[in-house]
Amino acid sequence: MIIENIKITGLRNLEKVAYSFSKNKNLVYGLNGVGKTTILEAIFITGFGKSFLNVKKSELVNYKKDSFLINLSCRNVFGGYKISAFYNSKFSLLLNGKKTNILEAGKYIYPVFFSSSSYSLHIESKPYIRKLINRLIFGVYALYIHYILSYNKALRQKNYLLKTRRNLAELSSWNRIISEFSAKIGGIRMEFIDKLNNEIKKKHGAGLEIRYSPSLCSGSGISQEVLFNELEKLKDREIKFSKSLKGPHLDNFEIYLDSRNLKFHSSGEKKINLLMVYISFIELFKKERNEYPIFLLDDFDSAIDSKNIDFLMESYPDLQVIATSVNKNSRFEKLIELGKEN
Ligand SMILES: Nc1ncnc2c1ncn2[C@@H]1O[C@H](COP(=O)(O)OP(=O)(O)O)[C@@H](O)[C@H]1O
Ligand SMILES: [Mg+2]
Repeated sequence: MIIENIKITGLRNLEKVAYSFSKNKNLVYGLNGVGKTTILEAIFITGFGKSFLNVKKSELVNYKKDSFLINLSCRNVFGGYKISAFYNSKFSLLLNGKKTNILEAGKYIYPVFFSSSSYSLHIESKPYIRKLINRLIFGVYALYIHYILSYNKALRQKNYLLKTRRNLAELSSWNRIISEFSAKIGGIRMEFIDKLNNEIKKKHGAGLEIRYSPSLCSGSGISQEVLFNELEKLKDREIKFSKSLKGPHLDNFEIYLDSRNLKFHSSGEKKINLLMVYISFIELFKKERNEYPIFLLDDFDSAIDSKNIDFLMESYPDLQVIATSVNKNSRFEKLIELGKEN
């Protein structure tokens, strides 16, 4: 998949802009605050229905306007299509002018976003890395997001029960439903991490790996019945603490380099190894879906050194990259300069 052009109206400082991209390597450059990251954010929102930053959609609307609209013209092997994201106190996604949802849109647009400013969060913060892995899995198992949404819904109901202490007799029925989705989610996570580690090993040797520790029944095969029994044993403690104490929402993923958690390595090692994880994922995506995702690289030259950017350019000629930087760089086929007038 590639993005041919983008039109943005009313998103942050971008009141009305339009740019076209090359199918290969693009660089958006300009001074600080001109809206480079916002362009990547626009693409991300169209793919995932929300920003990579922790912000409300209302905060994304340009302060002079009351809505934002992002239009992408894209292309894959089957032809061209349009995807739009519109927000006007309510958010909607459109595929060729018809209302759609992220599950469907994800088949047509899937961005991978790497930023030099948030890389350490993705290594050090458990919820961040869990979110990242969830997003990656969604790229290769479309139904995964459906299981996550169903699980979260059941979890909210169960927590409501535990908090209000009403209808506690229903707890086992919720544990049934929760164990069903937990088994699905755990199984997919395990399979995905295995496949990703395989790709990482091929690219990087054996030193780098992701370790997955499910909060429920770590270890051997995860069957729904085993999970249900474990949840049932937790009942008294959960009632005491008024919340769910275990489940996929608390699973942990950690990146290890040479048998030591990556968070204990230098910032240069963190960046390059996290980038390796992303690139290995891009390989996996290509294998599973027979096409490349779109790679968004924010402030690319502070994220990676010139040797690694050369490697990326040369090893993946068919991957569309949209990078940003304050500096112009002639290694990119298409240069887009952003000025203050945006
Ligand atoms: N809701 C908003 N309305 C108008 N401007 C905004 C809004 N939110 C953020 N901005 C501004 O938009 C600019 C965009 O920043 P950003 O895309 O991060 O720039 P860059 O990546 O080029 O440094 C910033 O100057 C920011 O202050
Ligand atoms: Mg920026």
